[in-house]
Amino acid sequence: MCGIIGYIGRRNIVEVLISGLKSLEYRGYDSSGIAVLKNKKILRHRTVGKVVQMESTIPAEFHHFVVSKNEENLVGIAHTRWATHGKPSEENAHPHTDCKQKFVIVHNGIIENFIEIKNKLTKHKFSSETDTEVLVHLIEEKYKGSVLDAVKEAIKLVHGSFAFVLISTYEPDKLFFARKDSPLIIGLGENEKFIASDVTAMLKYTNKFIFLENDDYGIVTIDDIKVYNTKTTALQNRNVAVVNWTAQMAEKAGFKHFMLKEIYEQPQVLRENITARVFGEDIVFNDEVKFSSAQLKKIKKILIIGCGTSYHAALVIKYLYEQILKIPVEVDIASEFRYREPVLSKDTLAIFISQSGETADTLASLRMVKENKILTLGVCNVIGSSLYREADSTIYIRCGPEIGVASTKAFTGQLICLYLFGLYLAKLKSILSEQRYQELLNSLYKVPSYIEHILADTSYIKQLAEMFYMKKDFLYLARGINYPIALEGALKLKEISYIHAEGYPAGEMKHGPIALIDKDMPVVIIATKGSLLQKVFSNLEEVKSRDAKVIALTNYGIESKSIDYKIVLPETDEIISPILNVVPLQLLAYYIADRLGCEIDQPRNLAKSVTVE
Ligand code: M6R
Repeated sequence: MCGIIGYIGRRNIVEVLISGLKSLEYRGYDSSGIAVLKNKKILRHRTVGKVVQMESTIPAEFHHFVVSKNEENLVGIAHTRWATHGKPSEENAHPHTDCKQKFVIVHNGIIENFIEIKNKLTKHKFSSETDTEVLVHLIEEKYKGSVLDAVKEAIKLVHGSFAFVLISTYEPDKLFFARKDSPLIIGLGENEKFIASDVTAMLKYTNKFIFLENDDYGIVTIDDIKVYNTKTTALQNRNVAVVNWTAQMAEKAGFKHFMLKEIYEQPQVLRENITARVFGEDIVFNDEVKFSSAQLKKIKKILIIGCGTSYHAALVIKYLYEQILKIPVEVDIASEFRYREPVLSKDTLAIFISQSGETADTLASLRMVKENKILTLGVCNVIGSSLYREADSTIYIRCGPEIGVASTKAFTGQLICLYLFGLYLAKLKSILSEQRYQELLNSLYKVPSYIEHILADTSYIKQLAEMFYMKKDFLYLARGINYPIALEGALKLKEISYIHAEGYPAGEMKHGPIALIDKDMPVVIIATKGSLLQKVFSNLEEVKSRDAKVIALTNYGIESKSIDYKIVLPETDEIISPILNVVPLQLLAYYIADRLGCEIDQPRNLAKSVTVE
């Protein structure tokens, strides 16, 4: 959480830093700040609220300074915050400085032992409640003539996660950085350099990046980058990656919100993933999945880990793989998995799903599994992210930047990739009949155009949003492979509209939750064609006879007088249906939140990338 950016070069530095911050706002948006070096002094401005607040109140002295004169390099840093230690306030907003205003820092992560360090820095004067301020004072304390040495000494003492950028009046032409368990990426331009939490902040200026690795620290100057690593004394050589995303991909393109744009991008995302991997009847994962056929054939168990929406994707895949691969699949929430004592067997393939590739709990689980010498496969949207680099192999979900905090296209992107991977494994292990394999592949081909059909006319879903936006609670019910879609529908609604919503397996209702039902409770039920439809209908009757208002996702030809409102969807194979069924639920959540006037792309208390546990 939190977005950080640093710049050294000759552009309008305020513009570079603020536009970068705006594209990092999905990482946190309760306060923001900027600091630049001017005449060997630190100029700093911070405000509570979003980046626009900070931008609109920026003092005039910043503007006099923004464009480089006399070939002088401009150096600055900026931050958008998601509060962990200390409430959102100007004092707690980054950048933070030391006692003598010689150093200024922006930080993403948590310094876990900050109280212990603070207690030792008795001569220092602190002006915030943050953990970050301790770091800059520690660097001040360690400074003996070299800023890099001070950084090196300081990071030896801190525990927790951090990505930080620091500038100093002592060495004004440099950006100092360090990272541990939080992402940090250097952007390479002509006579300029950038450093930020995410490539989206730098895409306007470059598509060449160095993805820093854990425990890296170093210096960026206008024409050089020096990367060191705390685990070794040698200077590190880090590869430059070219990212094929464009700045336009990270813009709203006429949509009211990123979330809506991203919902509409799903057909394209699915097509791209299919086209990249399906050639005739063959599914190919050659460049991505580096395991040998022999290794894959030996797999006897699959473990899938994720958080939030990525966890819901994992649950769908459990149903799918157990059906088509006939091997046990265990799914866990990363924050639970890492603290239990899972029994891991060597013939397991462990799959880690994460849009960002930076979710702290997912990465910790990955590292834990790797220690047990088990094959690990990442499923990720960000090339160069920690998951991308650390998993033995990684499937890239080709979604383009997902900016809306509520994950939509990454979810269907994760599903399509793992569906294709499942079919690929099934063929390799000769488990599915040729006919069933072909049927499923054909059904997958049709999904993008079915989603286009749903997106072509959303007026009915908007009407439903208009009818139900004032409700305080919603229940989402489904069975079998669509049960995780009920969970996902409820998560979408609660995170962007703040309406309480629960996803439940429909068959479990009588064991408690049915007590919640009365005439005020809207129940969204997935009743599309499939082997459990009759069972779903029985559950539907149970809620209807307690006066619930029933909104059903169905297909043509499915009739019931107990359904009050019907969202009719194109019919597909039951095991493919989750990819389709989630789309109207994303739209319903979106339109309800929009009707309520919520901050859809940046819901309260949330951040897109959860880099702290
Ligand atoms: O980047 P990740 O996929 O690892 O993120 C996991 C969750 O934080 C994420 O899916 C979150 O639940 C979304 N806000 C859901 O819309």
